[in-house]
Amino acid sequence: MQQHRIATLLQADPSMQEITVKGWVRSFRNDRFIALNDGSTIHNIQCVIEPENYERALLDEINVAAAVAVTGTLVESSGSGQRIEIQASKVEILGKADPEEVAKTILSPKRHKLETLREQAHLRVRTNTFGAVMRVRAALSYAVHKYFQENGFYQAHTPILTGSDAEGAGEMFRVSTLDPKNPPLDEEGAIDYKQDFFEKESNLTVSGQLEAETYAMGLGQVYTFGPTFRAENSNTSRHLAEFWMIEPEVAFNDLDANMDLSEDFIKSVIEYAMEHCKDDLEFLEKRLIQEDKSKPQAERSPMELREKLDFVLKNNFKRVSYTEAIDILKNSKPNKKKKFKYLIEEWGADLQSEHERYLVEKHFECPVILFDYPANIKAFYMRLNEDKKTVRAMDILFPGIGEIVGGSQREERYDVLKEKMDVMGIEEKELWWYLETRKFGSVIHSGFGLGFERLVMFVTGMSNVRDVIPYPRTPGNAEF
Ligand code: 4AD
Ligand code: MG
Repeated sequence: MQQHRIATLLQADPSMQEITVKGWVRSFRNDRFIALNDGSTIHNIQCVIEPENYERALLDEINVAAAVAVTGTLVESSGSGQRIEIQASKVEILGKADPEEVAKTILSPKRHKLETLREQAHLRVRTNTFGAVMRVRAALSYAVHKYFQENGFYQAHTPILTGSDAEGAGEMFRVSTLDPKNPPLDEEGAIDYKQDFFEKESNLTVSGQLEAETYAMGLGQVYTFGPTFRAENSNTSRHLAEFWMIEPEVAFNDLDANMDLSEDFIKSVIEYAMEHCKDDLEFLEKRLIQEDKSKPQAERSPMELREKLDFVLKNNFKRVSYTEAIDILKNSKPNKKKKFKYLIEEWGADLQSEHERYLVEKHFECPVILFDYPANIKAFYMRLNEDKKTVRAMDILFPGIGEIVGGSQREERYDVLKEKMDVMGIEEKELWWYLETRKFGSVIHSGFGLGFERLVMFVTGMSNVRDVIPYPRTPGNAEF
């Protein structure tokens, strides 16, 4: 069955052929002009009706948010707002919407704050902003698969339920079927997980990387794209407890090849969105200009949305070692004037988002790849450099976002990895299988993780991660 979608009709030529469109009323003027939207595009189609041909009762049901089916023909519009419109011969109400109820929600036709939209997350996709953001999100998701599929990668479906902590940071959501009020206890009085569903402690995954690594050792080039979970109590505009991550992993790639891959990948998906989401990006750009007007000068975006995306496509990401970055930060104005909350005093300091943003937004003014971080501030699986102090880690920092990618060359040497796990207190009994892959044809390999929501934020210009995922999960919030 072929449904007529408004996006297609708006591109079509006038035709005498009768068509039916179904959608939701955005406005109804003078008992004559229905602006109809079906989610296929940011634009509405105008449907013109002759009020004399309809009962008053039906006209009274053509309200904002009501679902209707309009049958008619596509004609050239005599009005100025649109090229084409529907001359309607029939209108059918498919789902009513009581104007009094509508007035209490974000569906009422006026400007609503993003915070208010969040409280009505079940309705917000019916607004222009969220329709646009979610269409761009879907396009980016497709572009991710397209990129990897066209470049010889296999998608690996890594587990969501797991017994291991891939990042070794202990920020996991426990999964259990034990009765929380009366759990079985062992001889020491601790909860006896041997009696739990998996007969051991288990959790939701924080990353599919370790399993993806084992698959790269057989399929060569793999990627994951799935939900990941972090029980970190970070109530920021960039952290979610449930977010989607893309993790490619490539056998025989060193860190330089990993950087090349990440840069090419990011540029490719942004380019796809620019080509396929033109109307939505134009709308989101105007939205951002509007939003910026209410902000102090210093917080406004230096470039308009599409100009910024174009800039990323046309310029190389700046590659800078951690050591160089520390020098720049140590000598920076905000450090000398004690404007940073965390002052950079010596090599080894972990970089906070204020430092990352200074490097990207003030110093380099372009995306930056920082690499070769101190070993003790990074995860256990990263390859140790000859200096024995740094690891082959890389973070990609984006303007307005901060860290968008974290990745590394992995430690492929059995003895070095084993010792690193010992020192960092990673239990071998949990990760014996990971370690074992280093015994059979172990080779250098690399990968990275891109936070999908941070990418969507960058491309749409939305400034809060809660506004680029349908139902955000954050500390204290699992509504819907
Ligand atoms: O830097 P992270 O923790 O790296 C890993 O998980 C590695 N296993 C990736 C790999 O090498 N395969 O996370 C990767 C990215 C971050 O750069 C960030 O974009 C995103 O995931 N991210 C989050 N996004 C939203 N909310 C959170 N709480 C996030 N934590 C990380
Ligand atoms: Mg990271």
